Amino acid sequence: MTKRQICFATHNQNKLKEVRFILSAKFDVLSLNDLGFHQEIEESGKTIEENSLIKAKTIWEKFNVPCFADDTGLEIEALGGEPGVFSARFSQRKGSELSNIDLVLSLLINGPIRKAQFKTVMTYIDERGIEVFEGVLKGKIAENPSGNYGFGYDPIFEPEGYTKTLAEIDPKEKNRISHRALALQKFCDYLS
Ligand code: IMP
Repeated sequence: MTKRQICFATHNQNKLKEVRFILSAKFDVLSLNDLGFHQEIEESGKTIEENSLIKAKTIWEKFNVPCFADDTGLEIEALGGEPGVFSARFSQRKGSELSNIDLVLSLLINGPIRKAQFKTVMTYIDERGIEVFEGVLKGKIAENPSGNYGFGYDPIFEPEGYTKTLAEIDPKEKNRISHRALALQKFCDYLS
């Protein structure tokens, strides 16, 4: 049986790898590269929800292929939910994961309240309309970065029930418990 094609509207190769790992048994997940789309989609929304919609809509309107996009934010309680929608450019240096991590750690230095969560909002668009799925992973910000797996804020995020960071957890395990995996699971349930 040929697998159904859906596009994942991201240029982030780490995300693409995670999503393909989870969906590839049932779907042929096309990347933006596969569609020949190389531009950056401007994330001009004020919320994670808006940015997720902007990315999915851009690709749906251009290619008319069933398509989904995610937007993820790290929400830190002691920072009033920041960086949230600004997670990618928190340190003002877009794409600089290490400086984002440094900034979070310096803002929380000696801070006893380290509760945080990752939130992913996934928006799917096809000819039937728009569907939105959310996944949350609760945890806390570690005192220091550790681990080499994963990407982004993984080296400083300890999920609830673990004494290690997401970057120390085997990627298969991350793909079982993560915010993105939870949103994807809801999305898969919807598709089937
Ligand atoms: P976006 O969803 O690509 O806009 O990502 C926002 C920010 O969150 C970027 O700095 C990403 O590196 C980071 N991020 C997204 N997903 C994850 C994750 O699963 N682990 C750690 N950081 C992430």
